[in-house]
Amino acid sequence: MCGIVGYIGTENNAKEVIIEGLKRLEYRGYDSAGIALCINGKIETRKHVGEISNLEKIIGDVYFESTTGIGHTRWATHGAPSDLNAHPHSNSDNTITVVHNGIIENYVELREWLREDYGVKFKSDTDTEVIAHLIGIYYDGDLYQAVCRAVEQMRGAYAIGVIAAAEPDKMVAVRKDAPLVAGIGEGCNFIASDIPALLKYVRRIFLIENNETVVLTKDDIKIYDEHQKLVRRDVFHVTWDADAAEKGGYDHFMMKEIHEQPKGLDETLTRRLDEDGDINLDGISMTKEDIEGFNKVYIVACGTAYHAGLVGKAAIEKLAKIPVEVDIASEFRYRDPFVDDKTLFIAISQSGETLDTLAALREAKKKGARILSVVNVVGSSVARESDDVFYTWAGPEIAVASTKAYTTQLMCMYLIALYMGRTKGVIDKEYYSRFIEELRGIPDKLQTVLNREADIEQIARKYCRKEQVFFIGRGVDSAVSYEGSLKLKEISYINSFAIAAGELKHGTIALIEEGTLVFALATQDFLFEKMLSNIKEIQARGANIVGIAKEGNREIEQESSEVIYLPECMDEVTPLLAVVPLQIFAYYVAKFRACNIDKPKNLAKSVTVE
Ligand code: G6P
Repeated sequence: MCGIVGYIGTENNAKEVIIEGLKRLEYRGYDSAGIALCINGKIETRKHVGEISNLEKIIGDVYFESTTGIGHTRWATHGAPSDLNAHPHSNSDNTITVVHNGIIENYVELREWLREDYGVKFKSDTDTEVIAHLIGIYYDGDLYQAVCRAVEQMRGAYAIGVIAAAEPDKMVAVRKDAPLVAGIGEGCNFIASDIPALLKYVRRIFLIENNETVVLTKDDIKIYDEHQKLVRRDVFHVTWDADAAEKGGYDHFMMKEIHEQPKGLDETLTRRLDEDGDINLDGISMTKEDIEGFNKVYIVACGTAYHAGLVGKAAIEKLAKIPVEVDIASEFRYRDPFVDDKTLFIAISQSGETLDTLAALREAKKKGARILSVVNVVGSSVARESDDVFYTWAGPEIAVASTKAYTTQLMCMYLIALYMGRTKGVIDKEYYSRFIEELRGIPDKLQTVLNREADIEQIARKYCRKEQVFFIGRGVDSAVSYEGSLKLKEISYINSFAIAAGELKHGTIALIEEGTLVFALATQDFLFEKMLSNIKEIQARGANIVGIAKEGNREIEQESSEVIYLPECMDEVTPLLAVVPLQIFAYYVAKFRACNIDKPKNLAKSVTVE
């Protein structure tokens, strides 16, 4: 997804700082990169399709030096990935240059107007170029005022960074529904779409709010609201380490993050547990009356976070006895859903910046719902716009394929369900305490599954050339099947499909033939016999079955080519363990097929467009 970095300082090091910042954002996914610097009263721009290394090759020349500049990694939305469509974009006489994340919804209208009234000739297919021209026509020596006038005409969700040839000692940035921060340096200042871009240089950050404009010089950062009033903002101190975003000895971030799951889960849990084992919701103002007043929970998310929501539904319905709907954010927001002031709306998002999730949240808020979010990135948009936030504490997740965010999201959902169930008196103290003990044991049990990595690698080696894989399960196992299937398809590009096992015979079984690979998740004791019947049905049609079951349920061996055993645990919490072999399998299949594991094609880590 698109990334913005801007720098204004004293030394001629803008190029180095911006390129370094852009590299820190590479993990978000992008298809082209560019940089623009103020040099001797002019703006020099270089941009290139493909990786940042391509851009570096064309800016190797020594004269590309400046104290002020902006850079961008683009993930195409308007116009194909190309050198011309890459950012930055400039106005006709190259005096105003812009980088932009998001979408300008009325860009066609603005483009026509600029063409007809001002004779503007456009060089690219992007909506961004419109912004540069718009600011250009209003510019009369004051970049801030020109940006304000342009913004009045722009509709959509965006963050922009702007420089002007005539004001090389100034940079202006605006936030509207797309992430933006300003970094506070010494004798230099920064803008970025994401904090990691700046961590090598600063830890003191201003989080920019919606409809705010930032004016930066090397010594000063001023934040203005939409009425051009100066805003006072507290400094946000980033406590997490940039090293946490490095690979730490693993070949890929994804494998590192898979192995970080025991630690992440332990962190998520212990931050919410008192010494006596009670769940504390510090910072979350949800009273007994609030909980008793909810007649429905709506969980809304995208991708992996949505799959975590499916497990959350099972947990909340079972433990708190409140009906739960789970919806995909891009569907929810256009459905006019039944949400009111008795609804608890739970948004799940690793990044906290997924546009559809954010829009769904706002929709629910408008209808009066109470908003609780489960988010990994502190200070992200979803977190800031929620009534309450339950952080996942997974640490930065870099690989596009989500792993530790998913399991920590599950942990949060269990804790929320337990808290609600206990507060409402649905579950007794004994069951509650047993559940908490079970959760405490999960990091060690997950480590046991990780210790089986070599066996899972062998299974991946054996099946890595299959072109089609199925995942089946019942109950929460079907939710985990969806996640296992998503992991495989997103990083290995194999056509994979997940389905509730009982539904197989209503159509999908037609696709099962000799040698078809099927992962059969059979972790639920009370559904084990039923699953065995489903497994027999597909085995009879010649499928290769990889079973996933608890250690005690050995009968599955007779029907399976391979079995991956999980440590014994309560049925309710098996998703925390069952997903792990599927993550490792997807990883090794992708590795054996020489895929780009951390940055799969066409995908982005943080999807900040519709
Ligand atoms: C993208 C990522 C997925 C992620 C989804 C939702 O598609 O590639 O891994 O699950 O967005 O992201 P969020 O940050 O809201 O959890």
